[in-house]
Amino acid sequence: MLDIVTYGNEILGKKAESVVEINDAIRTMAAEMFEAMAGKGIGLAGPQVASPLRIFVTNVEGDKPRVFINPEIVLTSQELISIEEGCLSLPRLYLDVIRPESVRVQAWNEKGRPFTVETDGLLARVILHEYDHLEGVLFIDRLKAGKRDRAISQYQKLIKT
Ligand code: NI
Repeated sequence: MLDIVTYGNEILGKKAESVVEINDAIRTMAAEMFEAMAGKGIGLAGPQVASPLRIFVTNVEGDKPRVFINPEIVLTSQELISIEEGCLSLPRLYLDVIRPESVRVQAWNEKGRPFTVETDGLLARVILHEYDHLEGVLFIDRLKAGKRDRAISQYQKLIKT
């Protein structure tokens, strides 16, 4: 079982690298990422399992499980929306984050086929959150400076209890 790395691990702040070849190793990794988040989360990105690769998986209710390899966000709506987020790398911390309401993303799946998803609601939110992980950005980084500082103190208290 893959371990999920948590806040403080430097890989979470690094930009991930493109996947060069979609092969069995990548397929195995994707399967292990679904396993690692099963029952705990609805999205997980490469850096969260200590991989430097641009891959994330989603498993959102009402949608099929998806693997996004080398994703590109091609469009986001101007309309913004505040939704409560959590992150397996910041366990037990849940905060409202403002992001675009809808998104269009292109990526390759684990079979090496390109696909496009245009969506809003929870799936859009998960895609934007997971894409940020590939850029070395955490959801707390999307908060205003003061709120981010408070979120970090709150998290540090949470992990002590
Ligand atoms: Ni996350």
